[in-house]
Amino acid sequence: MSATPQEAAAALRDGALILLPTETVYGLGADAGDPKAVAAIFEAKGRPRFNPLISHVADAAAAAQIAVFDAAAQALADAFWPGPLTLVGPVRDAARVCDLARAGLDSVAIRVPAHPMARAVLAAFDGPVVAPSANRSGRPSPTTFDDAVEETGFAVAAAVDGGPCRVGLESTVVSVLDGRVALLRPGAVTRAQIEAVVGPLADRGEGHRSPGRLTLHYAPDAPVRIEAATVRPDEVLLGFGPGVGEPRWSLSPTGDLGEAAVNLFRLLREADRTRPAGIAVSPIPATGLGEAINDRLRRAAGFVG
Ligand code: TXA
Ligand code: MG
Repeated sequence: MSATPQEAAAALRDGALILLPTETVYGLGADAGDPKAVAAIFEAKGRPRFNPLISHVADAAAAAQIAVFDAAAQALADAFWPGPLTLVGPVRDAARVCDLARAGLDSVAIRVPAHPMARAVLAAFDGPVVAPSANRSGRPSPTTFDDAVEETGFAVAAAVDGGPCRVGLESTVVSVLDGRVALLRPGAVTRAQIEAVVGPLADRGEGHRSPGRLTLHYAPDAPVRIEAATVRPDEVLLGFGPGVGEPRWSLSPTGDLGEAAVNLFRLLREADRTRPAGIAVSPIPATGLGEAINDRLRRAAGFVG
């Protein structure tokens, strides 16, 4: 059932879709330069076409052919690639990443993933691969091979099994435009880690917007109640910290944010399969990785924007 990186690269060349394991979440991949294949991604996910995709490339040199990187972008690439950081910069070569993949914007989002299987696919394909998270639009991102197959496996010609994702939360999206650096989506690289490299981040201003942040996201079927102090009958409680809720449903029994990130989407999906009246989630600290975890939970609970 699982395809090799070479088979996945061949599928991309044929204009087909693939399941691509990365260290953050599983992606639904296509040749970034093939408008038909990119259209098939939007179709399979039910994703609105105004929401642009991330191009995955093998290294920073390949990224610099597609986008214009200033000194700040270069410093961030040096510090965090390969890894869970996405940089949005002005597009340099619009032919390599088709208009639809960029949702018609004159900026482009790029990342160099760290997962060895993702790197093997990119090396074998030798071109940018667009890959949104492999969930159907609005649902929690898949962090295991089985969850990825369940979400969009029907749409792919090759599915690469890279095991469970090491990070479990999507990349941090940072825009570097007009000499300003802004955080568009908190993620696996923390705000403090970014600011340690480029100094204080700018407020999101003109042009520094992430179209994908406008819609309901990451939501299981059951209603999600966050910062829950008590659990109601027929709710599953996703606990955090020692002695909170059942061990099986704990995001992290020791109160470790990295562990909670790894477990978050998997447990939301597993809890949902028990058809509960609701999913309650314990308070999670807002520091470090907690910023991204709370961002995903607020969106899963329906607090958008
Ligand atoms: O970890 C990840 O980033 C995963 C793995 C598969 O790499 N991918 C992922 O892709 O999370 P997706 O499509 O679910 O999220 C991409 C985000 C969206 O919020 C989108 O709006 C934003 O990046 N984005 C893409 N291009 C952009 C651009 N040119 N300007 C602003 N935001 C952009
Ligand atoms: Mg997504």
